[in-house]
Amino acid sequence: MKKDIKIGYEHFKSISELSETEKKLFERAKKARETGYAPYSNFLVGCAVLLENEEIYTGSNQENAAYPSGLCAERTALFWIGANFPNEVIKKIFIIGGPREFSEKTPPIPPCGACRQSLMEYETKQNEDIEVYFSNLNEEVFKVNSIKNLLPFYFDATFL
Ligand code: THU
Repeated sequence: MKKDIKIGYEHFKSISELSETEKKLFERAKKARETGYAPYSNFLVGCAVLLENEEIYTGSNQENAAYPSGLCAERTALFWIGANFPNEVIKKIFIIGGPREFSEKTPPIPPCGACRQSLMEYETKQNEDIEVYFSNLNEEVFKVNSIKNLLPFYFDATFL
């Protein structure tokens, strides 16, 4: 039997359609992107994470000469938050990335599969969805209300 899965997402043509908090997250993610350490891929990614206590923490990708030892921007921020504020609820993550020669032509970059899986873990842990935004220099934004929208048939602790 063939079945289809529909995912819900929003597409904003401009960041002006978003709230002041989301605009701030965009700016923080863009600034964090500049701290990316990406001498191998020359692809810089930054993110900004909003916690329930209204604090914002950022992350950027950190590469390594032993390539798999590097880490994406999202997990750099998420794991740091998990280690330092284990009981704090994560509300939103805003991601912006692209080649070092970042231009208006760069499309919004969605989170990679491993980062989706990690976001899923934190949603499960806190029993609350995390809004995920990804954008580009044109301030075009995609939003999902939960990482479940980007990770159908997700694997989680219930299977263990
Ligand atoms: N990257 C991220 O930081 N986040 C993603 O979701 C996609 C990929 C990084 C990893 C690597 O440093 C570079 O982008 C190229 O893949």
